[in-house]
Amino acid sequence: MRSSEIREKFLSFFTEKGHTIIPSASLLPENDPTVLFTTAGMHPLVPYLMGEKHPGGTRLANAQKCIRTGDIDEVGDNRHLTFFEMLGNWSLGDYFKEDAIRWSFEFLSSKKWLGIDPHRLSVSVFTGDADAPKDTESIRIWKTAFKGVGIDAKEGDRIFMYPKAKNWWGPAGQTGPCGPDTEMFYDTGKTHAPAYGKKCHINCDCGRYVEIWNDVFMQYEKMADGSYVPLTQRNVDTGLGLERVAMVLQGVESVFETDMFAPLFKAMGTLTNQDDRRAKRIIADHLRAATFILADGVMPSNVDQGYVLRRLIRRAMREGRKVGIEAFGWTSAIVETIIATMWESYPELNIHRQHIGNEMKQEEEKFTKALDKGLREFDKIARDAKVRNLQTVAIKDVFDLYQSFGFPIEITKELAQEKGLGIDEEGFMQELAKHQDISRKGAEQKFAGGLADHREETTQLHTATHLLHKALRNVLGDHVEQKGSNITAERLRFDFTHAAKMTDAEKRRVEDMVNWVIRDDLPVTFEEMTVDQAKQAGAIGLFEHKYGEKVKVYTVGGFSKEICGGPHVTHTGELGVFKIKKEEASSAGIRRIKAVLLDKDV
Ligand code: ALA
Repeated sequence: MRSSEIREKFLSFFTEKGHTIIPSASLLPENDPTVLFTTAGMHPLVPYLMGEKHPGGTRLANAQKCIRTGDIDEVGDNRHLTFFEMLGNWSLGDYFKEDAIRWSFEFLSSKKWLGIDPHRLSVSVFTGDADAPKDTESIRIWKTAFKGVGIDAKEGDRIFMYPKAKNWWGPAGQTGPCGPDTEMFYDTGKTHAPAYGKKCHINCDCGRYVEIWNDVFMQYEKMADGSYVPLTQRNVDTGLGLERVAMVLQGVESVFETDMFAPLFKAMGTLTNQDDRRAKRIIADHLRAATFILADGVMPSNVDQGYVLRRLIRRAMREGRKVGIEAFGWTSAIVETIIATMWESYPELNIHRQHIGNEMKQEEEKFTKALDKGLREFDKIARDAKVRNLQTVAIKDVFDLYQSFGFPIEITKELAQEKGLGIDEEGFMQELAKHQDISRKGAEQKFAGGLADHREETTQLHTATHLLHKALRNVLGDHVEQKGSNITAERLRFDFTHAAKMTDAEKRRVEDMVNWVIRDDLPVTFEEMTVDQAKQAGAIGLFEHKYGEKVKVYTVGGFSKEICGGPHVTHTGELGVFKIKKEEASSAGIRRIKAVLLDKDV
């Protein structure tokens, strides 16, 4: 079964079960500073899991593109990826454990759907602790489901209990909706590799069992003080890994041999005869992730998402070097294959084909020379370390490779490993912090790609973004359209169509207008309506049929009306003082504003 067929089957199955299919959200979380990327299908749905009404109703499903850099060191084995597609279904206060588990089992095992032999399936369930009891309900439901196909599943045999570390799904940030989960594993039948421990088990890393689906039962909200408060709305959030299911159904050894990756290996085969499997897998994974990140509008840079993108491309280049791929422009050749394989499901790849190719070429050009020089420099460092009998590469050298040759820490770490040397990552973070005026924690977060949770600040900046959008249209004209928005706890960033640099007077008028609206303390309300009604009501915003027909329209007093999912403050008076910090070109015909909210008495 081809991966596109699996995707389609999943969406038809859940359509039959009364779900609305929603499009994949961007890889860049809108208005959420707690993570750099969308890491799961639930991520864009957090406001709805917390009780906001979703225009698509209470049963949703989709295929969501996801990036997880946490597993980056695992990429190269048979199943870990930084970019993957997650098929998910959600109940927003609708069905709960009974239906969720029954449907997962039906979709996986029924001949009409995936037809996986149920004898190859095992599950894990939450064992219980001081925060929440053992999930006996899920155990009961699983037993019944297996009994239906003549399998006598028992605890300790096909149903296994695990603590929070394995069977609890928390929010992408530190606080938010969470709860116990039940995971489904497929037994590939491979023999256990003793290097991974005496006995194999479903969570063993040897690769025999592959986790394919996770059903999360969100019944709690984790608060900032670490407590778990029951949610008034009980939700289901599930995630089925498309690449892994394709691997299982296509009967291949790894996700890299599925129809989603095979063309990439073929393309690499024309560039080198060398056969370093791990290196080629890293190249395939990283360039696929990079292609999708570029398609969502990120450019390689030294901060945030841009830096993750840069690291992915650079690491792919170094792995390429390792297997003897040198022809300039080779990364964009692979990217062409990625686009050709994926664009039908993700048309944005085709739409931004040129941009993706150009950025890839530019990054390759930038790094090629530095890579050669840096590799020579590293050889010197390693020789020197051997002569002096050192076990690790000096922090100064790791930092120097980062600063002078643009080597992300992963490259240096891997080079060091190849020479039997270690690196002091903690020390590197401290050094980085010293040079960049951030704390070590901040440096770690920068590398881990996470930021602290500041829900209140971001909600305020989100409302401020609406005010700015409307004020820009009033001051500059109706040609102003939103082209992008990004909010951190500190500032908002807004990209919009406008040809010329804004004058100081224009900026001041926009600021003044936003501040009047704040001082007037106007109420912020919303209504649900169809896209057509929204247009008729004069709402601005992105007129995509994002969630089927119904959309939310937020109104700020008599000042602005905009299509948007929320959340927003209830009164503009909560916003403080609005200040534009920067106005600059973003790309041709598009300007970018960065702005902040200051406390009233500043
Ligand atoms: N959000 C859950 C996961 O990512 C389904 O595993």
